[in-house]
Amino acid sequence: MSDTLIRLQGAIPRLNTEALRGDFPGLTTPDGQPWHYLDAGATAQKPQSVIDAMARALGPDYATVHRGVYSRSAHMTLAFEGARRKVAKLLGGAEGEIVFTRGATEAINLVANSWGGANLGPGDRILLSRLEHHANIVPWQLLAQRLGFAIDVCPLTPEGLIDLDAAEAMLTPAHKLVALSHVSNVLGSVLDAPRAVALAHAVGAKILIDGCQAVPRFPVDVAKLGCDFYTFSAHKLYGPTGIGALWARAEILDAMPPWQGGGAMINKVSFEGTTFAPAPQRFEAGTPAITEVIALGAAIDYVEGVGLDAIHAHETALVKTLRRELSTMNTITLFGPETSAGIVSFMLDGVHPHDLGTILDEENVAIRAGHHCAQPLMEHLGVPATARASFGLYSDESDIAALLRGIERTRRIFG
Ligand code: ALA
Repeated sequence: MSDTLIRLQGAIPRLNTEALRGDFPGLTTPDGQPWHYLDAGATAQKPQSVIDAMARALGPDYATVHRGVYSRSAHMTLAFEGARRKVAKLLGGAEGEIVFTRGATEAINLVANSWGGANLGPGDRILLSRLEHHANIVPWQLLAQRLGFAIDVCPLTPEGLIDLDAAEAMLTPAHKLVALSHVSNVLGSVLDAPRAVALAHAVGAKILIDGCQAVPRFPVDVAKLGCDFYTFSAHKLYGPTGIGALWARAEILDAMPPWQGGGAMINKVSFEGTTFAPAPQRFEAGTPAITEVIALGAAIDYVEGVGLDAIHAHETALVKTLRRELSTMNTITLFGPETSAGIVSFMLDGVHPHDLGTILDEENVAIRAGHHCAQPLMEHLGVPATARASFGLYSDESDIAALLRGIERTRRIFG
């Protein structure tokens, strides 16, 4: 990777996408045409360095971790724990505060079942928001059915931000947890996280922030945010599927009971009674996703090499350009705020987003069309689905131009 930044006349550095795209073998079609991949919000394409790291870990370097007495296993363990250090540094937390999970979904389920199971009950309340991904709704509903606490839903501002004035008015000492998305996967709206943390802590509640769409898009520092739990998935951060992480403040994680039992999470097992390993091992039962963790480490190296500040500036400029272009078309409804982070949701009047997505596919443009695992938000917007373009560090104006050409063609087809 070289010359990743282009400095235009202004102060904002733009990424050299021509050079960066060369790192991503997935960005061409089988017949060698550019693929205008605008679905990083669902999952990001992988740079060759991540693919190579995964192949090496599965091939010549492969061995188990934490168990082997042979040197290959010791090396693998060092690489595995090295990746944990990289995740900790990326998020601004400590190594012992990082639990590897299958993804953000499992991380939220872990917090719900372990922390929630020990701390929530009848008379308690938690606060979610209208724009949450199903992964930050359903685990809490399942738990509420079991434990009998109540779930409140924070409304949104007209432009699609979580309405923290409303949250302030809703929060009471009965609230034990606030769980919110850092960046909406549909609208791209960015939570005022420090204020949300202050509001939660003012009533004695803990706060979980779902960082799935934030971690790939701008620098996150949990120490500065002051939150209690933070989650993300590797596959949106240019890493592999099947791996993600939970960061939890040390004193909270230390007090949390195990949630899945098995090997690796114990201290001593006997039929008289089993004792458990300290965190984070207590939450990592079974042989972990060794190769995925190591490839996640490579993804973090790659993203940090490009620079999250530069990625943020780049994606912000693309959002501005796309929103400006779409707003000149009188048949387009745009959702979300101007300040969206890397994501633009819209509707083409009279055309179902699935039809638009299918026609765009013929033009080698990939968007997501549907409810985006956010049905309560769709209900709020009054639509069954939206079309969503989401940018990655390799996206540029050529992708926007291809998308706009595809939209024009769709408009002609639908008259
Ligand atoms: N959460 C992913 C998305 O927004 C799946 O597409």
